[in-house]
Amino acid sequence: MATEKILVTSALPYANGPIHLGHLSGAYLPADIYVRYQRLKGSDIIFICGSDEHGVPITISADKEDIKPQQIIDRYHNINKEAFKQFGMSFDIYSRTSLPIHHETSKEFFLEFYNRGLLKEKKTNQFYDKKAKMFLPDRYVEGTCPNCGFEEARSDECENCGTLYDPSELKNPISKITGEAPVLKETSHWFFPLGDYQSRLEEYINYSSDKYGWKDNVIQYCKGWLKDGLKDRAITRDLDWGVPVPLKGAEGKVLYVWFEAVLGYISASKELSKLKGKDDLWREYWQGEKTKYIAFIGKDNVVFHCIIFPAMLMAWNDGEKEKYILPQNVPANEFLNFEGKKFSKSRNWGIDVIDFLKIFPADPLRYTLAANLPESRDTDFMWSEFQARNNNELADILGNFINRTFTFVQKHFDGKVPTRHELLPIDKEMIELVSGYPKKVSEFFESYKIRDGVLEIINLARAGNKYFNDSEPWKTIKTDKERCATTLNVSLQAIYTLGELLSPVVPFSSEKIFKMLNADLVKWFDSGKDNLKEGHQLNKPEILFTKIEDEVIAKQKESLAAEGAEVPKAVEELITYDDFMKTHLKIAEVIEAERVPKSEKLLKLKIKIGDEERQIIAGIAKHYSPEDIKGKKVVVVANLKPAKLMGLESQGMVLAVENEKGELQVLSVDNSVKSGVRVK
Ligand code: MF3
Ligand code: ZN
Repeated sequence: MATEKILVTSALPYANGPIHLGHLSGAYLPADIYVRYQRLKGSDIIFICGSDEHGVPITISADKEDIKPQQIIDRYHNINKEAFKQFGMSFDIYSRTSLPIHHETSKEFFLEFYNRGLLKEKKTNQFYDKKAKMFLPDRYVEGTCPNCGFEEARSDECENCGTLYDPSELKNPISKITGEAPVLKETSHWFFPLGDYQSRLEEYINYSSDKYGWKDNVIQYCKGWLKDGLKDRAITRDLDWGVPVPLKGAEGKVLYVWFEAVLGYISASKELSKLKGKDDLWREYWQGEKTKYIAFIGKDNVVFHCIIFPAMLMAWNDGEKEKYILPQNVPANEFLNFEGKKFSKSRNWGIDVIDFLKIFPADPLRYTLAANLPESRDTDFMWSEFQARNNNELADILGNFINRTFTFVQKHFDGKVPTRHELLPIDKEMIELVSGYPKKVSEFFESYKIRDGVLEIINLARAGNKYFNDSEPWKTIKTDKERCATTLNVSLQAIYTLGELLSPVVPFSSEKIFKMLNADLVKWFDSGKDNLKEGHQLNKPEILFTKIEDEVIAKQKESLAAEGAEVPKAVEELITYDDFMKTHLKIAEVIEAERVPKSEKLLKLKIKIGDEERQIIAGIAKHYSPEDIKGKKVVVVANLKPAKLMGLESQGMVLAVENEKGELQVLSVDNSVKSGVRVK
């Protein structure tokens, strides 16, 4: 069988803030599961992502903090890259659109279109904010609708009555950036003739959606756009942050962020080729006819990936240069909400990936999100579901099946794979079920039904548990040792299969399973066979999943309730000195420190506040070893209600801050300060 070449991209997240769980469910986790599965199948695949580092929101964030856009993108590029890594995203490259290679690629596309006379230059009047010294994008202007009087109308369109008008007709326009009244100023821009591609796009979308089974939600979005008729689109902007328009006299203009961001996939592939020392490798994936290109995105990106990007590639392909392939499928997801509401940065609703992974390991999160992917409708992340999936499915079903099998084999068979003797119907059924699994799951994954595939795999763990129970090896070990050996042999082979099928979903745990099995993964479709030889020596079992206690979840919900409360924007709420003094911040000396068993994040600290000894469980183990922290004088909240973490009582909280890379630094003072002293 010839190996298939596959190009997979995940939407490039804006380097303007930390990614949250909703992002993972949309464009990242499903792509990662798909890619890891394809790699096991032996497909020749590259997986591309990176930061989208241009656009107005980035310049606005920079202005707010009075720093350069470069500092904003450096900060969030690093945070997000680290978050993805800890979450187990297996990108072949995580690039950035601020790199020279991307600027070159984008300019090359623009110039190709420009030189062939495809682009139209048009003069328009646009709102200009004199104070901010910038032209205002539509969503940064608000005013009163000339038709219905709605006061929050956009510069050229009223959301309330649907009227389109010329910006000069908008009454009382206000710049959302400075709050000043903007003026209309003439400017000229280059337009891409999207309308010229209408019928070819229709054909492309009809053909591919039929042939490759595009998702209904994606087809519906596309139809909505096509129905209205596609129009010319401006592909330049008046801004000083972005890819400069490569023409004389175009100073102060950059390429529109969406025009160049989609090309970021190509630039990133070029960079990957360079890193691999084969400069032209990217062409095999972007220009080879035998390659299929799958673009994973969230629903808000559909028009860019199914209409605009394909039109750009069609336009390029009409020229003389090497031709590009178009996306074969764009399995866009709907949105993940958080406890019933939209994720919102300004309302503090939701949780960032980097913060989540400070408290919990990646695999339970991967599994919970995968089991609940918004593939056909919006879904919710609920803390209670996270706990239940972890405790009832990962720990009680999967973990338990594996653990009891291993423990039994260690105890009664010296940790060696027992011999398979005569098979009874119950064994045959189990073996048959297992052997059919790789194909079953593969069918789901190949058709981008990632969620169904994952739920199906857990059914195998359920079946394994039931098989183990029904076979009662704890009885047969006394009455019929051959029977018992057979049961355990069949169970172990099933664990092997499970470990492999799960590896795209919970890669960290799968690695542990294979370490316990003392074996390596095989090709996906071989994983349902008997892969463990009789007599093969296994390693000692380790705990795969720990239960999450009610208190831990309650704490998350509590802090959410506190954070989700409406916070007045921009103005910080003032508190009195007395309010501040309610928090007892004190200096404490760390006198003992040790890791909390089975936790990657937690350290158990014994501290002394003056003469008083206390125990604090601190989530700093990834950044401090027990030796690092021992002897330090740290700042603690001394009057915090005790809470339980992993069953251990924590009597207070150590204060820490995070730097730009997401590393923690515990606040501390030098030895001249006595423990017990109050911080004020
Ligand atoms: N940055 C965009 C977003 O987060 C996605 C860009 S995808 C790309 O919505 F293809 F344009 F890069
Ligand atoms: Zn109106």
